[in-house]
Amino acid sequence: MIKTHELSQGKMPVLGLGTWNSQPGEVYNAVKEAVKMGYRHIDCASIYQNEEEIGKALSELFAEGVVKREDLWITSKLWNNAHAPDDVQLALEKTLKDLRLGYLDLYLIHWPVPIKKDIVMPNTPADFVKPDDLSLTSTWQAMEQLVDKNLVRNIGVSNFNVERLQTLLDHGNIKPAVNQIELHPYLQQPAMLDFCQQAGIYLTAYSPLGSKGRPDGMKAADEPVLLEDGTIGAIAQQHGATPAQVLIAWAIQRETMVIPKSVNPARMKQNLEAASLTLTQKDMQEIATLDRHRRYVDGTFWTTQGSPHTLENLWGEPV
Ligand code: A2P
Repeated sequence: MIKTHELSQGKMPVLGLGTWNSQPGEVYNAVKEAVKMGYRHIDCASIYQNEEEIGKALSELFAEGVVKREDLWITSKLWNNAHAPDDVQLALEKTLKDLRLGYLDLYLIHWPVPIKKDIVMPNTPADFVKPDDLSLTSTWQAMEQLVDKNLVRNIGVSNFNVERLQTLLDHGNIKPAVNQIELHPYLQQPAMLDFCQQAGIYLTAYSPLGSKGRPDGMKAADEPVLLEDGTIGAIAQQHGATPAQVLIAWAIQRETMVIPKSVNPARMKQNLEAASLTLTQKDMQEIATLDRHRRYVDGTFWTTQGSPHTLENLWGEPV
């Protein structure tokens, strides 16, 4: 049994299956295999453009009696082009239809960057909605209504900095349950972790293995490969584990949730088994020294020329 963290509405398994970059044709099998081997938490998003296929897998798993809906934790995310309060429920309904579900366990605002309704990714300044014209608080209030209507159990955010979390804490009725952000030994974000622990907000670690499978256009030629880090490799060897397992165990020991992506059954199993690996205090101290403020998903795609956003404003710190 995977450890869970208690949210206001339900228990969230600390380890889930990531599905960003899981291709149509692959993700159906991945989800079916994952649930059969013991995963109980699947992390989805409408922008991943694979929710229909995940829905097919889920509906078959329920029909085959492999698992009951109430024993699974399903997260999805509101895309940036549906931040207008009138669009939020419509976007959720599309996700629910694709996933073939009656409710989500957790629904997140994917990025704090509203864009125009008919745009998927912005190319010109005109594709953005000016933050002054559509506040994140008004989007959050529409998210709160989804909880009131029992369409989602918990709501949260993704890629929010501390200042934006504070705004929602100050102006919302429901506290964000989760902030899903990039977290791994090269980007440890200790100030964010402290803030969220104080505020009672859980962090979910995305790209926990260093996101080596993301699109080439998002990669820097000289980027460090987290899975090949020497310190992580040495710790893995001492435990008879793999580097990926050390990275997952590290995230869990920091009390965060973690959603490694894989479509390969052997690696999915390996990742699941990392939940029973315990790192020593010395291991944790050694890994703490690896922080190098390295973002693999750096958000530059939101800062095209003329965008109202800058990286500094997005992350709330110099980049
Ligand atoms: P694959 O899906 O072929 O297994 P992240 O979760 O940081 O985005 O990392 C996902 C990437 O890491 C994918 O390319 C995935 O490939 C790969 N991956 C997942 N699990 C492991 C593992 N245990 N060992 C090595 N690579 C892994």
